[in-house]
Amino acid sequence: MRDIKEIKDFLSKDKIASRIKELAAKINTDYAGQELTMVGVLNGSFMFAADLVRELTMPVQIEFMAASSYGEGVTSSGVVKINLDLKTNIEGKNVLLVEDIVDTGLTITNLIDVLKTRKPKTLKLCSLLYKPARIKHPVIIDYLAFEIPDHFVVGYGLDFAGKYRELPFIGIYEGPV
Ligand code: IMP
Ligand code: MG
Repeated sequence: MRDIKEIKDFLSKDKIASRIKELAAKINTDYAGQELTMVGVLNGSFMFAADLVRELTMPVQIEFMAASSYGEGVTSSGVVKINLDLKTNIEGKNVLLVEDIVDTGLTITNLIDVLKTRKPKTLKLCSLLYKPARIKHPVIIDYLAFEIPDHFVVGYGLDFAGKYRELPFIGIYEGPV
């Protein structure tokens, strides 16, 4: 493991990989005999989505979306701005949204609302991490890898100010903010 003094080890590469295998087994059972459209939420979910999809056994189409949130109270409509949208029509498809972390839930609940208007056959959420202590917009996470305490985590796709996404493990950021 690369040693970075401001990052404390939290979830190892092996722990993440074995948990992804367990989640994938469940997804493979649930969607057996069906096709899946996986929608990864950029940038944070790129590594998780890439590892998860390799464990899936059904035919999968892979799409990405990117959104940025302005926090609450800024505008009355659309607190989340979509910066990159899907390139295909998801009407009638089994859509699995893949997110890095559900923190307050603002981003993902907005994305779910947007995707629902496009009439997918099914829409489920898979998240690598969930911080229950911070949730403000409750959401059902159909497939969750890890529930974590209220720490700011980085690595395995997650960043602090654009840094550390490349780390193959998840660590707790303890540096200056
Ligand atoms: P939300 O509050 O659930 O809308 O989370 C918005 C976004 O904040 C997530 O998709 C992440 O990109 C980011 N985020 C929240 N908590 C963390 C964290 O602990 N580390 C890195 N990014 C985070
Ligand atoms: Mg994110």
